[in-house]
Amino acid sequence: MDILSLIEKKKKGLALTEAEIAFFVKGVTDLSLPDYQIAAFLMAVVWRGMDPEETTLLTREMMLSGETLDLSVFGSRTVDKHSTGGVGDKTTLVVAPLAAACGAVVAKMSGRGLGFTGGTVDKLESIPGYRATLSPEAFTAIARDVGVCVIGQSRKLSPADKRLYALRDVTGTIDSIPLIASSILSKKFASGAANIELDVKFGSGAFMKTQEDARALALAMIDVGKRMGRTVHAVLSDMNAPLGCAVGNAVEVWEAAQTLRGEGPRDFTDLCVTLTAALVAPALGLSREEAQGKAEEALTSGAGFEKMRQWVRAQGGDEGALTDFCRLPQAKEKKEITAPSDGFLYALDAEKVGLASMALGAGRREKDDVIDPAAGILLAKRPGDPVKRGEVIATLLSSCREKLAGGEETFLSAVKLSAEKPEKRPLIAQIL
Ligand code: URA
Repeated sequence: MDILSLIEKKKKGLALTEAEIAFFVKGVTDLSLPDYQIAAFLMAVVWRGMDPEETTLLTREMMLSGETLDLSVFGSRTVDKHSTGGVGDKTTLVVAPLAAACGAVVAKMSGRGLGFTGGTVDKLESIPGYRATLSPEAFTAIARDVGVCVIGQSRKLSPADKRLYALRDVTGTIDSIPLIASSILSKKFASGAANIELDVKFGSGAFMKTQEDARALALAMIDVGKRMGRTVHAVLSDMNAPLGCAVGNAVEVWEAAQTLRGEGPRDFTDLCVTLTAALVAPALGLSREEAQGKAEEALTSGAGFEKMRQWVRAQGGDEGALTDFCRLPQAKEKKEITAPSDGFLYALDAEKVGLASMALGAGRREKDDVIDPAAGILLAKRPGDPVKRGEVIATLLSSCREKLAGGEETFLSAVKLSAEKPEKRPLIAQIL
């Protein structure tokens, strides 16, 4: 078998066999294939696609290219969620303890942020003392004793994806459903959870810009899940505006804790409860309605917040920071952004808000950039809110005065005021 014939075959739109896909993934992983032939292969897939069987085979081979975690000691109670990324997306910080409070086990590996989307591990590491690197024994023990443990993603998970993703990033081959689905699911399946919930976002701050594309990606991933005997569900959620009121790291931890105390934004709280219900229903053998009731009870009783405290404490973090904002990293520099006229906040472009947050220091441009945990944006107004001239729309936070100017310019480009009230869009567009 040789890679050139595989490239030719895919170029003609023919389906590849199991042996051919295994040959390709092996050559990616053991470095026997050069970048230029891998890139040509990827471009052929972008144009010609892959059928569901090929996508499943690619996912399986990529999953098997590295370490796979065995969470079978927890039976079918293990759950994992994946968000396709967004701005202000702190859902894992709320959903993980809520799911654990319902009786599920969340033993999860999460990523770091790159570009305008934040990473869960960066947010968690803004809690003083929180350790995102643990031995496999400590990881399993915390998951067993607390029901939730979240660490950084192991470099040994789906190494084929690491190489493929880095190449896709520089060869214009990101936007292909089979490549995205296999990339996401190879890592999720290797992480071992029996039940997976995908939060597939669409809109300006999301990877998929339209709801139709998000739906196609979600359906492709659910199909791969079925073919591999794994439980995969998905919700489609709107990411045209940031999620909640906080964008950054420490500020998002604070908003997540507030949400678990019943003081979070209503739409964000509803999204978290819905995601939790979707996750725990198959894991605990409940109907969606029963699971919804259980998730709501975990929130209103405070059991979810108590779980977050236990989880943070177990991973070495200062649980006091969840009730006392002053114990989280504090920004030295602040700038209030005020409305130039009366009207409504018509739109707040999520991608631009994410870029503004990155300019303030909350995100990484390059993968080795150091995050400023205190940097970010606190929104005082959200799309649909009335505003008066001079009223504060948002506060920009940074540890570096020079970064405020760049952040301000980008943030202002995200803001659209209007005399008309915009139509309210539901955060959850579809549950699949
Ligand atoms: N996230 C991933 O992990 N892979 C993709 O291809 C796209 C988003």
